[in-house]
Amino acid sequence: MFELCASILAADFAHLARDVQAADAAGADAFHIDIMDGHFVPAISFGTGMVRTMRGLTRKPLDVHLMVETPLDFVEELAALGVERVSVHYEIPGGPGPALQAIRAAGMQPGLVLNPETPVEAAKPFLPQIRQLLLMTVHPGRGGQPYLPGSNARIAAASQLVQAAPQPIPIQVDGGITLCTIAEAHAAGAWSFVSGSAVFGGPVPRNVRQLRLAATVCPQDLL
Ligand code: DX5
Ligand code: ZN
Repeated sequence: MFELCASILAADFAHLARDVQAADAAGADAFHIDIMDGHFVPAISFGTGMVRTMRGLTRKPLDVHLMVETPLDFVEELAALGVERVSVHYEIPGGPGPALQAIRAAGMQPGLVLNPETPVEAAKPFLPQIRQLLLMTVHPGRGGQPYLPGSNARIAAASQLVQAAPQPIPIQVDGGITLCTIAEAHAAGAWSFVSGSAVFGGPVPRNVRQLRLAATVCPQDLL
């Protein structure tokens, strides 16, 4: 079992409704929305207006990735918009604890995100609070980058770490997830695959179907 989470950062915004609905119909399980503030990462992407638009386009779960320094500022509005999951970075000033708590209190599922250089053990104190652990498999801030070497070992270590929690904590991976990398990430222990370029670059229905098939291939068979 796994989840394909289509990252709209790579969508063609001139045809957003067409492409989101195509991904939805072809089997995307959820939609990933990257909010960037120009501080935590250099880029600015979109804000809660895009979340409102997406809520109007799909009934699939919305998975919001806050690449922002002050995630608390967003929680109330995201809850009001009917967002299911919100992930915040470990690396933000003051740490993620208060935002994780607020997300949960607002009735959404809190996720913790670790940048590639953050040791997976950093998640340990937050395990009781989270419903998803998101490992960045590229440096955050833009799409279309290659899957970082060492990601599979991090996924495997994180899979071990989350066993200590009483509740199930799925591992999500974000960045460089393509037909070439999805199977190895799955074999390493990831459950949710965020994919932008590989979903929205080219024909969306075909991309979604192929990614879903590729996720279940045994990586040994690819050698
Ligand atoms: C990167 C974002 C990703 C991005 C992934 O900072 O968090 O969600 O959309 O894009 P691809 O799949 O192109 O690597
Ligand atoms: Zn993301």
